[in-house]
Amino acid sequence: MSSSQNKLNIFVTGGTGYIGGAVISRLVQHPDTKSFEISALVRTADKAKKLETLGVRPVIGSYSDLKVLTEEAAKADFVIALADADALPAAEAILAGLKQRHEKTGTVPKLIHTSGSAFIMDNAKGMHGDHTIYSDLDADAIAALPETAPHRHVDMPIIAANLEGYVRSYIVAPGTVFGTVSGPLVDLGIQNEHSIQFPLLFKVAIARKRADYIGLGKNIWPAVEVNDTADLFLTLFDAIRSKPDSVPYGREGIYFAESSEYTGYEIAKATSQALVELGVSQPHEPTAFTPEELDQYFGKFWPFLSTNSRARADRSRALGWKAIHGKDALLASIKPELEYYWNESSK
Ligand SMILES: NC(=O)c1ccc[n+]([C@@H]2O[C@H](COP(=O)([O-])OP(=O)(O)OC[C@H]3O[C@@H](n4cnc5c(N)ncnc54)[C@H](OP(=O)(O)O)[C@@H]3O)[C@@H](O)[C@H]2O)c1
Repeated sequence: MSSSQNKLNIFVTGGTGYIGGAVISRLVQHPDTKSFEISALVRTADKAKKLETLGVRPVIGSYSDLKVLTEEAAKADFVIALADADALPAAEAILAGLKQRHEKTGTVPKLIHTSGSAFIMDNAKGMHGDHTIYSDLDADAIAALPETAPHRHVDMPIIAANLEGYVRSYIVAPGTVFGTVSGPLVDLGIQNEHSIQFPLLFKVAIARKRADYIGLGKNIWPAVEVNDTADLFLTLFDAIRSKPDSVPYGREGIYFAESSEYTGYEIAKATSQALVELGVSQPHEPTAFTPEELDQYFGKFWPFLSTNSRARADRSRALGWKAIHGKDALLASIKPELEYYWNESSK
């Protein structure tokens, strides 16, 4: 048996992303990294070449290359999927590969899939923050969510596959991820360094030179810092390796990532202050976007930006995960991000 056959095969998708890059960085710097055979899906030859310098085997392809996904998953003891929470065919292709792995080896491979706390969101349109607070320990409440809730069309088949027994599934569901990434993939220039969700608000604030909110700005979302988020993936990964039977999986294996909550108004207020400090605008108190402005700047996306999603990462914390960065870090992250988009807009 060659040494590579004795190693733990880990296949990562989305490894050049904001969260995924932080996960790969941790895997290549892990104390046990010599016992890992890490492969990662990448979409360009340039990124593949650079990733290889870190000892990661690049697999050139995308989530449309279903055959590649199945082949690679069929070689993996762990798949960590961080590319697209909503790509059902890709998730099915990965599951098909993991099933092959199980049938060939008799082992039960593990899938850590990335979803998002949007699956518990409402349609508040910024008018209130009065929404059920979901604990990730409450598997019944999560299982009762409608099939039509965001991400559920992928999460549910993954949980069903777990029930079939050929894979153990773990679903990580972060709130809004924020903060600065660093590490080998950033140094190589191959990691996305910016999150989603807030940038849309920042770009609109820069275009209008003022920051406003939707509805009454009362809707509430969870937030989690990007390094804390990546630490959760590693806490989970390490716990599964060291005590597999005591780490909840399948229907119970949902892990929120959150460390604070913010309202629509708070983000508008902090953005308005940052705009002033950057010399982009005069001091102003945020007010509500008009319906015309919502259509003009956000199109069909504005209702999503004004929902509630209220999550408690109790199961994640029970694993030993500790988020270091809280609300202060969230608010402090706004100015540098805004500055980045301001500089981009001035190019
Ligand atoms: N950031 C957040 O606030 C947040 C919150 C909750 C959930 N999530 C979920 O977490 C996952 C990762 O988010 P992120 O913020 O890290 O995203 P990101 O920075 O946009 O990274 C996405 C990664 O997936 C790859 N990718 C995208 N589309 C692909 C495709 N069709 N085929 C193959 N690879 C593809 C990208 O590759 P390239 O380098 O080639 O672009 C990149 O490596 C997503 O599913 C997202 O919905 C994110």
